[in-house]
Amino acid sequence: MYPLRRNRRLRVNSTIRSLVQETILSPNDFIVPLFVVEGKGIKDEIPSMPNYYRYSLDLLTNEVKELWQLGLKSVLLFVKVPDNLKDNKGAEAINPNGLMQRAIKTIKDAAPDMLVMTDVALDPYSVYGHDGIIEKGIVLNDPTVDALCQMALSHAQAGADFVAPSDMMDGRIQSIRETLEDNAFENVGIMAYSAKYASAFYGPFRDALDSAPVDEKDIPKDKKTYQMDPHNRIEALRETRMDIEEGADIVMVKPGLPYLDIVREVKNMSEVPVAVYQVSGEYAMLKAAAANGWLDHDAVMMEQLVSIKRAGADLIASYFAKDAVRLL
Ligand code: PBG
Repeated sequence: MYPLRRNRRLRVNSTIRSLVQETILSPNDFIVPLFVVEGKGIKDEIPSMPNYYRYSLDLLTNEVKELWQLGLKSVLLFVKVPDNLKDNKGAEAINPNGLMQRAIKTIKDAAPDMLVMTDVALDPYSVYGHDGIIEKGIVLNDPTVDALCQMALSHAQAGADFVAPSDMMDGRIQSIRETLEDNAFENVGIMAYSAKYASAFYGPFRDALDSAPVDEKDIPKDKKTYQMDPHNRIEALRETRMDIEEGADIVMVKPGLPYLDIVREVKNMSEVPVAVYQVSGEYAMLKAAAANGWLDHDAVMMEQLVSIKRAGADLIASYFAKDAVRLL
């Protein structure tokens, strides 16, 4: 009790503060999302994500080498699919010579020890901008899961270390696990987007990949029949528990900062590592505020990342990874 206990003694100078720090960020905490496009010589800034780029495969090589040199050891791949290759079933997603499959090989050539994770969901390949196959205005569950299994297998065959299903269909983790086992990919892991909310924070990402749901008759305008309702908490625990039972190696909560209560609860109940996705809208908000001189970019960035880790994240997928690691 005061004055015997004076809490400020542990804050007197930076030396003691650093000694008692409870949460410490390291390059090992990060997963770097990468956007890949067809073409040559392309490093294309995403308008709603300042200083973040889509790369063609030739320039991806340098970027990945730079990440590795910075100590960043894992990437999460997303591809921007040309319109003429989009359909309702994601046929292009299993093309052994598709952009994703070539991107995996390109990265493994550039940085053989880089952990390559791939997005598994149909939206970049869907004419309708949905994560699954649509029939009569409904995003079908089980046919979509079959397509996702083939997609995950195709990524494993191309050399992916982890597949990351971001679609929120029911039962996909178990089916993907079985497909990988049946094809002797028992060491390919699954990072499950377990508590993924139907969030308005994904806007800039959908700009980056041109993957937003289309505005057409009989096509759902949002993803609320598969992604979670932001009002719900217990449902996140159920989703996480089921994904772990089905074989997820890593579970994920997404978005990050607005959902840190969920991160803590998921961390408390999980015996597998928990990843958090600090999403595109979170990135865009800080970039916009900093560009206006309203927030100190680097200080707020580090505070947000520390907060995500303190809440329970073992891994953070973040567009700030490179900037953050340079400051560590
Ligand atoms: C698609 C997917 C999305 C994100 C990752 N995978 C968007 C969506 O669900 O509509 C969002 C990432 C971000 O906003 O940074 N399955």
